[in-house]
Amino acid sequence: MHHLIPAPVRAGGDGRRVFVLDTATTLDAGPGTESTERWLRTTLGAAFGLPLVPAPASGANTVELRVDPSREPESYRLDVDPVRGVRITGGSATGVFWGAQTLRQLLGPEAFRRAPVNPGAERRVPCTEIEDGPRFGWRGLMLDVARHFMPKDGVLRMLDLMAAHKLNVFHFHLTDDQGWRVEIKRHPRLTGTAAWRARTKYGHRDSELWDETPHGGYYTQDDIREIVAYAAERHIRVVPEIDIPGHSQAAISAYPELGNTDVIDTSALSVWDTWGVNPNVLAPTDHTLRFFEGVLEELLDLFPADTSPFIHIGGDECPKDQWKASPAAQARMAEAGLADEDELQSWFIRHFDRWLTARGRRLIGWDEILEGGLPEGAAVTSWRGYAGGIAAAEAGHDVVMCPVQQVYLDYRQDAGPDEPMPIGYVRTLEDVYRFEPVPPGLSEDAAGHIMGTQANVWTEVMQNRDRVDYQVFPRLAAFAEVAWSRLPAPGERDFAGLERRMNAHYARLDALGVAYRPPSGPHPWQRRPGVLGRPIEGPPPTV
Ligand code: ACM
Repeated sequence: MHHLIPAPVRAGGDGRRVFVLDTATTLDAGPGTESTERWLRTTLGAAFGLPLVPAPASGANTVELRVDPSREPESYRLDVDPVRGVRITGGSATGVFWGAQTLRQLLGPEAFRRAPVNPGAERRVPCTEIEDGPRFGWRGLMLDVARHFMPKDGVLRMLDLMAAHKLNVFHFHLTDDQGWRVEIKRHPRLTGTAAWRARTKYGHRDSELWDETPHGGYYTQDDIREIVAYAAERHIRVVPEIDIPGHSQAAISAYPELGNTDVIDTSALSVWDTWGVNPNVLAPTDHTLRFFEGVLEELLDLFPADTSPFIHIGGDECPKDQWKASPAAQARMAEAGLADEDELQSWFIRHFDRWLTARGRRLIGWDEILEGGLPEGAAVTSWRGYAGGIAAAEAGHDVVMCPVQQVYLDYRQDAGPDEPMPIGYVRTLEDVYRFEPVPPGLSEDAAGHIMGTQANVWTEVMQNRDRVDYQVFPRLAAFAEVAWSRLPAPGERDFAGLERRMNAHYARLDALGVAYRPPSGPHPWQRRPGVLGRPIEGPPPTV
């Protein structure tokens, strides 16, 4: 009825009467609602030029914020009365904040601007009663800032966009073969050397084009603290990822002793300038363990336990060829009683699982960490389909479902020839809307281990913020509804209804300045004619 995205559990009201916010409207923020109070003033206050002065509710013309701990923590109730005003009651500070996001949507697209465009206009909220709360506690977005760096302001903006869609987990992919993006004071070459590359493959790795512009950038420790605090203020948890033991060429290029020096001359490596799965992986030495313990020590200081209980250590796509060829790696396996190289990978993961657990954190990794045995307590982001997630959940591990076939937003969103650098399967807005994070056939116990879902944004073919916007939107809106709303089975979902609500939502995204893919196809300036992608034909497998 109110064109809300994600759809609330229940929305009522006659849809005719309205409450009008004006310069006399007061803001009565009860204990625990301070973050929402600040957000309303800086966001709605700025958009409409309203002071929203603090004052106790007087029974008229007030926005009232309250916590009611008897409710589910992330749930909220929003009531709009023509005289009294708006009342948002959340189960916690977080629930109140999601209620405020709903209020912003009820106020129309101008509420998404940063300054008034119609200074004299009435700011109307339709009278309604909304009961709402999320299906999943983990509603995530993973952003790869290693392949293409996203400057800090872009990250803060993305956190705002996540909050507008009631997403609450930001998985921050900080390291990869193509770049290291977080300052680690004890290892300065990680940013001095590993944070930039001389040139970059333009398009899919089979493309013959290169961008000869040096590319790089990193977040200082204060930048990270700012990002984490900005996220926390928006009730978003941050999961930092340091990808080991694969995807490590950038680190090895800065510190060659981290690589398998008895197999190749690692001092000849540079930060990787193209894409794919890279053979240059970490050497399984004590030195490597101590080095990354040092990295993680600084990381735990930057990402505090209350907002970052999970630390992601990657574990994906680690080719074992160098370990097979390395006498040192083979000696390590013999000494540790490991049967094969999969167990050697597991040895790495177990080490950091123990290390993180001893410091009160939980390890999460890509589903390859299941190979060779998964330590108790470790959690899995299931990307190679559902299978890893199903196996992990049935074994009692917590799981985040993010199958490549369904929610990789780098994959093209239309089969047409105009998609920029098209890669992967076609995943339309409708496909994403029909994604189901809990696969059928899971036991009830295992289903309880599906913490939620996240959409993954790998940036090999996204050079800048506008390209990221194009891939992420509008599909993130459909994804947010999958993660938040209690939708029927995929085949029964009302996609036509979502499309109708999207008309209102596109106006919000326009006001926010999001360079989304228009439903009719890319604008001319969003196309990349002549730049090779790698589309995969046919529908994706369902498992
Ligand atoms: C991944 O896509 N390599 C996790």
